[in-house]
Amino acid sequence: MKYVIANLKMNLITPKECDRYIEILNQVWKKHIKNDTVKLIVCPSPLYTQYFSDKLPSDILLGSQNSFWEDKGSFTGEISPLSLHTLGVKAVICGHSESRLYSHESHDDIARKVASVIRHKMIAIVCVGETQEERDQDSMIQVIEEQLISAFASLEVRHFERVIIAYEPRWAIGTDVTPTTQDIMQMRIVIQKILIKQYGSEMVQKVAIVYGGSVSASNMSEVCIDADMSGVLVGRESLNASELIKMLESLSR
Ligand code: PGA
Repeated sequence: MKYVIANLKMNLITPKECDRYIEILNQVWKKHIKNDTVKLIVCPSPLYTQYFSDKLPSDILLGSQNSFWEDKGSFTGEISPLSLHTLGVKAVICGHSESRLYSHESHDDIARKVASVIRHKMIAIVCVGETQEERDQDSMIQVIEEQLISAFASLEVRHFERVIIAYEPRWAIGTDVTPTTQDIMQMRIVIQKILIKQYGSEMVQKVAIVYGGSVSASNMSEVCIDADMSGVLVGRESLNASELIKMLESLSR
């Protein structure tokens, strides 16, 4: 299975903007030739989860940009994974670099979030990636290893069918700079080696790895040429529904 994951971030923040986006998405979706091996996951701003749940075509998967680890209780401002599940959410982004940065999410927080997403039978889209500084210091393998091992601390091998790992180098997010095809392939191999070392070789078939960071329809052939990559996580360019469909179509070929 291949995925295009649209992370709308804190955009489309009024009903009018959401309506316009959904209308265009519906139009282009109708014309697009469907392929069962490529899935589109759309993660709206959390307040509009219900809105998107009501209006998205049923064969587009609804995602969430985050969730908390407890279902309910005294957790002001948090998003319940049980609510998300009830609203039809199928996938949740965990440990996005912006959540790590602005909400100071720790490795333990992310591990708890991943476990609760899996407990609710949703897909955990787990983001990992190094900063420019870590790349310059050649410490990116250790950084990624720490992020992966900690995020999956409480998972068993069988759970990995519901995990997508998004390799998102921080320096490529929102910058219009992308790693080379070779760099992405190398990091895909690094991630697979870490998983094999930790959980055994069967992991390679189970886990989908996608790339994220300044993805657009025009650079799809560079960032996702590796047959072992399972797609892309897209930020800014996902706000353009027609571009999103072009990305899906390039993965279907
Ligand atoms: P970008 O964001 O495509 O705007 O670089 C990607 C992401 O943050 O997931």
